[in-house]
Amino acid sequence: MTYSRIVGTGSFLPPHVVTNDELAARLDTSDEWIRSRTGIARRHIADKSQASSDLALEASRRALQAAGVDAGQIDLILVATSTPDYVFPSTACLLQAKLGVKGCAAFDVQAVCSGFVYALATADSFLRNGIYKNALVVGAEVFSRILDWNDRGTCVLFGDGAGAVVLATGSKPGIHASVLHADGSQVDLLSVPGNLSNGCIVGSPFLQMNGPGVFKFAVKVLEEVARETAAAAGMTLQDVDWLIPHQANVRILDATARRLGLPPGKLVVTVDHHANTSAASVPLALDEFVRAGKIRAGHRVMMQGVGGGFTWGATLATM
Ligand code: ACO
Repeated sequence: MTYSRIVGTGSFLPPHVVTNDELAARLDTSDEWIRSRTGIARRHIADKSQASSDLALEASRRALQAAGVDAGQIDLILVATSTPDYVFPSTACLLQAKLGVKGCAAFDVQAVCSGFVYALATADSFLRNGIYKNALVVGAEVFSRILDWNDRGTCVLFGDGAGAVVLATGSKPGIHASVLHADGSQVDLLSVPGNLSNGCIVGSPFLQMNGPGVFKFAVKVLEEVARETAAAAGMTLQDVDWLIPHQANVRILDATARRLGLPPGKLVVTVDHHANTSAASVPLALDEFVRAGKIRAGHRVMMQGVGGGFTWGATLATM
């Protein structure tokens, strides 16, 4: 039996940090409001010269180094992003070129904040079926580019960054199970309802969100999909050492852990200093906890995504 296993993690945050107080200096908001509603204290924002593929490149180099794998050994590159560099080609192809390799399969996965979990499940299927041996799976976003910085209801919530993992085949799991879902009828909860047409932006190029609607939906499906994924893996929630939900809002994270009966010590929280980095949030959080020596070899980690679409899903993996 062939399985896939995470053999290296990496991440990258653009150096420029924006605090709540800096936002409050030019918007009708406050550090107290943002912290009490979301748990967010600060976020990293890419400068004009940095695109998703640049953040992805740094995260990928670190993941490859941690894995002891050369870019030339990778036979599949998946980039989860909703903020690609171009309409086309894919950010995965641009990343491949920046890594200085060619020939392997490369494509983007678009499932907004569930993108990394969707990409991980996709790569796992390719590896499990013996089609590829080594995959680079990346979540990379510059959400700052699709925010209306005058809309206090949305711009305070997000940040930029990238996280990456190297997945390799092995004879024991690794990834035990993944469960993915979508409900396209919920499109109005969260969207950037614009497109390019004949040289113009048609519709809005900015993120729009029904905050309370997202909150309710996210808490419900994050609980459901954690239970489904544990069952699909033949485990119980008590077998899970770490829960890494998509880092949207600390109240969503706390509510999810509480509903699942998981103690706060098993919940990974990075949203306070990363804000919501969409598809990058789960691999960023994973890498931070791996590098801090908190998530270690043998630990069982439940990673969860939820986001626009609506999409949601989870993967349960032994590190
Ligand atoms: N500063 C001060 N006041 C604000 C701000 C702000 N940044 N943003 C909104 N408000 C005001 C509103 O205008 C409103 O004022 P009003 O009562 O005078 O009209 C008031 O605060 C309450 O607004 P609500 O939207 O009801 O506030 P709520 O307590 O629901 O919190 C929040 C809003 C934080 C967005 C919450 O709904 C939430 O966390 N939802 C989840 C959204 C989320 O995490 N989205 C991330 C993307 S989705 C994803 O990743 C899955």
